Amino acid sequence: MENSDDLFRFITALRAYTSYDLSDYSDRSLRRRLYKVLDDQRITIDELLAQLAKDPSYGEQLVEAITVNTSELFRDPSVWLLLRSRIYPKFKAQTYLNVWHAGCSMGQEVYSNLMLLNELGLYEKARVYASDINAKIIQAAQKGEYRYRFNLSYLDNFDLVINTNPLNYEEKLSIPYSKYFNIDEARDLITIHPSLRQKPTFRWNDLVKGVNPFFVRYDVIFCRNVLIYFNASLQNRLFEMFYRNLYPGGILVLGAHESIIGSWANKFERLSQVYVRKD
Ligand SMILES: C[S@@+](CC[C@H](N)C(=O)[O-])C[C@H]1O[C@@H](n2cnc3c(N)ncnc32)[C@H](O)[C@@H]1O
Repeated sequence: MENSDDLFRFITALRAYTSYDLSDYSDRSLRRRLYKVLDDQRITIDELLAQLAKDPSYGEQLVEAITVNTSELFRDPSVWLLLRSRIYPKFKAQTYLNVWHAGCSMGQEVYSNLMLLNELGLYEKARVYASDINAKIIQAAQKGEYRYRFNLSYLDNFDLVINTNPLNYEEKLSIPYSKYFNIDEARDLITIHPSLRQKPTFRWNDLVKGVNPFFVRYDVIFCRNVLIYFNASLQNRLFEMFYRNLYPGGILVLGAHESIIGSWANKFERLSQVYVRKD
């Protein structure tokens, strides 16, 4: 039986027994995820809270179960086409390009970006950092393995972004998938090439703490499909943190259903899902 206090009790206990504070997550999706965990583990909220009090490391498992890790190679192709045609060419004159994927999930976004940077001749200049709150998912990201049949859309997205000539959308290029990943149909596996997997620095990080985990400034920050799980107050704290850690002219890339609203909107120039830091 669901009770309106369940979520409050869960958040309070998690804060008391672990370092996690989910009080600025949006209620609706968090409540849905909490009941999914109770369902999957076939326990009541009282049993969950008792277990958490007994074993705080259970909190880690709960956070891993509660986060939503859906991602894709070249998710929302239009934003990658925008980066390709209008945004990344401006970075060509730079010596280095610092990129942070905040909330990188299983790494699909990180590898998509590396493929695109390689096609644009920016790969060698790029220093790529990626973080997530879910330690298990970071290990999966470093492995760079994805189910093949379940993820056929990855190939369509690759063709749309990598095999399209940005100067002439009618013209199709023929860059093979094997340039960047191996497809093993028998094992139902897509595996990203080791050279790409070794390039990023992956690190655990909780965005709620508002800390830049890599202690560098960035030209590009991806934080896509993460802020939708947070309330406006946490989103605003993160816009401030991202702004502070971007170089002037640096860009913040958000998800298709996210945008900067409120006072931080004036500090960025918007081009679809790409926000350029103004000064
Ligand atoms: C839906 S995925 C988005 C992945 C990728 N950015 C994309 O757009 O495809 C959201 C990710 O945000 C992570 N996340 C949720 N809360 C977080 C937090 N407080 N700090 C860091 N990452 C968080 C989740 O673990 C998950 O991997």
